[in-house]
Amino acid sequence: MQWRRRHCCLAKMTWSCKRSLFRIHVVWLLSLALLSAAMLFFSQQDWLPGHTGLRENPVAYTMQHGFRPRSEGNQSSLRSLWKETGYALPKPQANLSSHQAEPPPPAAELSLEDSLSTNSSLQGEMGVGGKLAAQPYRYILNEPHKCRESSPFLVLLIAAEPGQAEARNAIRQTWGNESVAAGLGFVRLFLLGTSSSRSEAYPQSAIEDESHQFHDIIQQDYLDTYYNLTIKTLMGMNWVATHCSRASYVMKTDSDMFVNIEYLIQKLLKPDQPPKRNYFTGYLMRGYAPNRNKDSKWYMPSELYSSERYPIFCSGTGYVFSGDLAEKIYQASRSIRRLHLEDVYVGICLAKLRIDPVPPPNEFLFNHWRVSYSSCKYSHLITSHQFQPNELIKYWNHLQSNKHNACVNMAKEKNSRYRHRRLHSDRFL
Ligand SMILES: *[C@@H]1O[C@H](CO)[C@@H](O)[C@H](O)[C@H]1NC(C)=O
Ligand SMILES: *[C@@H]1O[C@H](CO)[C@@H](O)[C@H](O)[C@H]1NC(C)=O
Ligand SMILES: *[C@@H]1O[C@H](CO)[C@@H](O)[C@H](O)[C@H]1NC(C)=O
Ligand SMILES: *[C@@H]1O[C@H](CO)[C@@H](O)[C@H](O)[C@H]1NC(C)=O
Ligand SMILES: *[C@@H]1O[C@H](CO)[C@@H](O)[C@H](O)[C@H]1NC(C)=O
Repeated sequence: MQWRRRHCCLAKMTWSCKRSLFRIHVVWLLSLALLSAAMLFFSQQDWLPGHTGLRENPVAYTMQHGFRPRSEGNQSSLRSLWKETGYALPKPQANLSSHQAEPPPPAAELSLEDSLSTNSSLQGEMGVGGKLAAQPYRYILNEPHKCRESSPFLVLLIAAEPGQAEARNAIRQTWGNESVAAGLGFVRLFLLGTSSSRSEAYPQSAIEDESHQFHDIIQQDYLDTYYNLTIKTLMGMNWVATHCSRASYVMKTDSDMFVNIEYLIQKLLKPDQPPKRNYFTGYLMRGYAPNRNKDSKWYMPSELYSSERYPIFCSGTGYVFSGDLAEKIYQASRSIRRLHLEDVYVGICLAKLRIDPVPPPNEFLFNHWRVSYSSCKYSHLITSHQFQPNELIKYWNHLQSNKHNACVNMAKEKNSRYRHRRLHSDRFL
């Protein structure tokens, strides 16, 4: 057929031949367009529920809208990468003279760059031997006796801003309530820095009252800003290492998260089994590239991190680790420059410790975006992102009252919706 057409066309350019040639052309063009559209689609989709799509450069790391790059970096080649760049990831025995040999810090224009410059964030805090002071910031509020009586099964570290009292209250009433892990030993701590604005609706005295009532706030005297999240996480790690070193597991998460603690404990941590060691899991971010766009929230100057890839890390929206790692990560952090992206930073500490975060049992457990709500889905996940306090309470209550038939109801709903639609369409037949 093909040959005959072509033959006919070569012989004499009849009108029908021209038309068939044109058709072949159009078909070719269409399939090319389809192919490239499909390729684009596949390379940028995460294939997970509720994922909210494409915003930035596919290879650049964005926290909420991260793309999974096609070419997944392999762990050992990442290792060799960070070995080459002693700058971003200093060798274990880094000393002051080797730090001084590093390239000069970037011009201190942005507050970010300022806070990250070698002077203010590393050498300024460095003691002798190129290590950070063990406790660079002072506690304003602490809860040193939380673990005195017994070592808890799970410590929850929740990053919250000083003014987010409503979010803290919502968490206390919902997934952060001690009753979710009754009998196991459960510690909930909100991690706070100090408020940046002086004339505030929620002053320090209110935080102190809150702390007095609930005994679940630790606060140090660093400014509570997005760029200081790493300091906040390290405060939590150091708290566990110092005051609760025998906790079986720790979870670090944020104040706008929905966390299904019960499912985390049952599905993942399994209290009836001996606690794991050197265990770290969450939503795995593998092979991400530093974002070099100065306007991005996730901007990483190459002067601070020069490699083309981050080591594997877990999204900061919620990760879980065995209690023994708190001390190890904290100690590792003392000789690694404090980069402002806290989840990347913890990943770097783990890479230095040569501990690989492990993938969770299934990829629907940890979500760093908002999964559309259904009692069935929410009874089978651990984290979902971007919740207002009132939504948290609403969905939590719904989930609690549908706990034992979370998916039965959904099947019914689906069925009835389907039937309804059928009936509806039948009427028009
Ligand atoms: C990972 O990288 C290392 C070093 O570059 C290489 O030897 C190894 O074969 C790679 N592994 C895979 C699975 O690609
Ligand atoms: C510090 O590092 C420099 C260069 O890396 C090395 O020559 C020197 O021996 C080191 N000093 C100590 C005390 O480790
Ligand atoms: C860093 O510190 C050195 C000496 O302590 C000083 O000369 C230099 O101006 C500082 N740089 C910045 C960016 O603050
Ligand atoms: C935690 O849950 C218990 C039992 O459901 C409830 O009595 C208590 O008031 C809750 N705590 C808070 C702070 O809401
Ligand atoms: C982080 O906190 C320190 C200590 O309060 C403060 O000096 C610094 O400006 C903060 N950095 C940023 C970027 O907010």
